[in-house]
Amino acid sequence: MGTDLELTIGPPAHGGFCVSRHEGRVVFVRHTLPGERVIARVTEGGESSRFLRADAVAVLDASPDRVEPVCRHAGPPRTDGSGGCGGCDWQHASLPAQRRLAAAVVAEQFQRLAGLEVPVVVQPVPGDVAGFEWRTRVEFAVSPSGRAGLRPARSHDLIPLEECPISHPRVLESLVLQADWRDSRAVDVIAPSDGETVVVPIPRRRAEQPRTVPIVREKVTTPAGEWSYAVSARGFWQVHPGAAATFVTRVMEVLAPRHGDRVLDLYAGVGLFALPLAEAVGETGSVIAVEGDAIACKQARVNGASQPQITVIEGRVETELASLGSQLGSQPVDLVVLDPPRSGAGRDVMAALCARGPRVIAYVACDPAAVARDTAYAMEHGYRLAELTAYDAFPMTHHVECIAVLVPA
Ligand SMILES: C[S@@+](CC[C@H](N)C(=O)[O-])C[C@H]1O[C@@H](n2cnc3c(N)ncnc32)[C@H](O)[C@@H]1O
Repeated sequence: MGTDLELTIGPPAHGGFCVSRHEGRVVFVRHTLPGERVIARVTEGGESSRFLRADAVAVLDASPDRVEPVCRHAGPPRTDGSGGCGGCDWQHASLPAQRRLAAAVVAEQFQRLAGLEVPVVVQPVPGDVAGFEWRTRVEFAVSPSGRAGLRPARSHDLIPLEECPISHPRVLESLVLQADWRDSRAVDVIAPSDGETVVVPIPRRRAEQPRTVPIVREKVTTPAGEWSYAVSARGFWQVHPGAAATFVTRVMEVLAPRHGDRVLDLYAGVGLFALPLAEAVGETGSVIAVEGDAIACKQARVNGASQPQITVIEGRVETELASLGSQLGSQPVDLVVLDPPRSGAGRDVMAALCARGPRVIAYVACDPAAVARDTAYAMEHGYRLAELTAYDAFPMTHHVECIAVLVPA
């Protein structure tokens, strides 16, 4: 720990770093780019560790993709107190380079975990502002002195923030960075697409919960229609202002629902996909939305109240999928959209889905490793990857959203 190594940097890896080697050992290096020569300070690992983690503190040979970070908190920790924020992984790379790095990581995950060679292009999300001003939902941690901040990578420390250019201007207009949050452990700021910015302080004592969590409204406008959703301010909603509409448009395009179709919407949240799908399948069709969070289910029922063809089931997908017989009878399922958390759906869920023989499965994924793994399980059950699109829905970070289209092989 703390030792400086001179390294030549190799390809990017999943998680916001690049891979290098030192005396035969793998070193995962943050704040560098492929092809660079850097001085990297070891941040994790020792003599007997299988691999080391390090942070590039000086660049000897810079990549042509390197740019000066906009934010003083980006990059490795520096002696003047700047740097060290774990929020942005790639602010030192140009935006086109960030997208190439993300594409390489997605392609590598599919190659390694599904044995597929997939050409990947990471597309910008419409409305993106040069990769900044996109975080409409931020949970800031609070320092002992009451300042809002974010954590360094892989650390419980806290960096009080003076600026955060990836946050939406409406998040910063709440003056969250200037206020004193001494009585709070964290503070959530939510800038919904339809309504005022909301600030929810989270009490210091973990046993206490915020007294009231407001409900915010989100509007999704696509060429095919407009939908409005109520969402708990602390519940799940896509963070980039252009993401929800982009994903709805793509999911509807690839599923191409017909009147009378039976659709499963798994990990449904407040019904982002269920509403447009219900409209498309009409009253003779059905959409069964399965969601584990009770508050999200309540909002999904409110959001879909005018569409009796939507049934919201509260429960874990893993268990509910097995007992859907009563809703579906012996009929097969025509279409599936699933949007699981980072851990993915897993082998059993993918097997159960494929067994119902849908025409198309649209898999919306916030983790490329999970979707690659789950694609491999679907391939074991007679499905193939027909298309893969990837979106830069979290610019400056290593996160990337993918939509995989699986069809019967
Ligand atoms: C990535 S979000 C997607 C939500 C929604 N599709 C959207 O885009 O707004 C994943 C959702 O899955 C839910 N979830 C997580 N694990 C689950 C499980 N095992 N079974 C059911 N729902 C789960 C979470 O509560 C969350 O709402």
